[in-house]
Amino acid sequence: MTDFSATRAKFHIPDGIIYLDGNSLGPLPIAAKARAAKVIEEEWGGELIKGWNTAGWMVQPRKVGDRIARLIGAPEGSVVMGDTLSIKVYQALASALEMRPDRRVIVSDNGNFPTDLYMAQGLIASLGRGHELKVVDPEAVEAAIDESVAALMITEVDYRTGRKHDMAKLIAKAHAVGALVIWDLAHSAGAIPVDLKGAGADFAVGCTYKYLNGGPGAPAFIYVAAEHADAARPALSGWMGHEAPFAFDQDYRPGNGIERMRVGTPPIIALAVLDAALDAWEGVDMADVRRKSIELSELFIREVEARCPDLVLASPRDSAVRGSQVSFRHPQGYAVMQALIAPGLIGDFRAPDALRFGFTPLYIGEEEVLGAVSIMEDVLSKRSWDKPEYHRRGLVT
Ligand SMILES: Cc1ncc(COP(=O)(O)O)c(C=O)c1O
Repeated sequence: MTDFSATRAKFHIPDGIIYLDGNSLGPLPIAAKARAAKVIEEEWGGELIKGWNTAGWMVQPRKVGDRIARLIGAPEGSVVMGDTLSIKVYQALASALEMRPDRRVIVSDNGNFPTDLYMAQGLIASLGRGHELKVVDPEAVEAAIDESVAALMITEVDYRTGRKHDMAKLIAKAHAVGALVIWDLAHSAGAIPVDLKGAGADFAVGCTYKYLNGGPGAPAFIYVAAEHADAARPALSGWMGHEAPFAFDQDYRPGNGIERMRVGTPPIIALAVLDAALDAWEGVDMADVRRKSIELSELFIREVEARCPDLVLASPRDSAVRGSQVSFRHPQGYAVMQALIAPGLIGDFRAPDALRFGFTPLYIGEEEVLGAVSIMEDVLSKRSWDKPEYHRRGLVT
């Protein structure tokens, strides 16, 4: 059994804050401070450029990737770190399309995060081969899979509502007609159990600044199934994905397996911070995380519905088809969220009207859930959200 009081002690949450936004940006893992100081002072400061060899910087993208692999049901050597999630989406999709040269359709859904759709639109324009991005309702994805489909590009858990797709089912349907599947695990990795190998995923990508607590802008990951890893051509053929980066050849030759998905120089300081953040996952069983996350989410839904009648549940009621976040709708959702943040309850808002709350058992328990609902009840019953300062929008909502 996972000891959640031990994991909780590994995070810094400022006094007076109830943090239900780990689905957007995980909090600071205490160990990250010392690790960042070490990599800056001892490694960069002391070793200078020697650090690429002496401090193992060059192999960090694979080593950290292996630690994430354990959390997403991926074998060792199938995950590598680098760049941002948008870039990894582009890479995975470009490789997949090239593996299905006679097909022109990409299927996604309108619950997908916009950057995934934007990256697909940009890639289609660059390829100029008449690909079509078919964006359907989440419930219609399965029916949209036919022989014309080159690739399915799906975010497993909807960023707005937390609705969860059935990964194994969609992969089975796609493979039956010869289509490939790319999964965006931004809201899955560290949130719910994922079994990429078991489900037969072809490609998967994800960020590490949410449930994996790697810090703002932490590097993303990409997974390529073993059967494709030596065949997929990386569209972004950077020198770090070359078979021999330091041969400085004029021509590109892809590296072995997942190594070819590296692009440029890895962000060593950010990788060190992420590596420290992943220490908190040692001894953590994703099945325990899921069980606790469902308990906390159910308690939250029950209490909010009983005490905050102005809020309407936007997430699926059935926990089996919900990720690790719960959203409620309110016509003045932005102002309500600002009014909740003022006394210390941090969640976030997604246009047009969703208030999102993330449940992260590593550092959140029942006490925080009940404390959060008390603040919500107070703010909503007194309508204290209806003040001019809560309606003013910042650059980031
Ligand atoms: C599903 C999904 N994909 C992509 C992104 C963003 O990608 P990037 O890390 O490149 O900003 C997010 C950000 O929240 C996301 O939720």
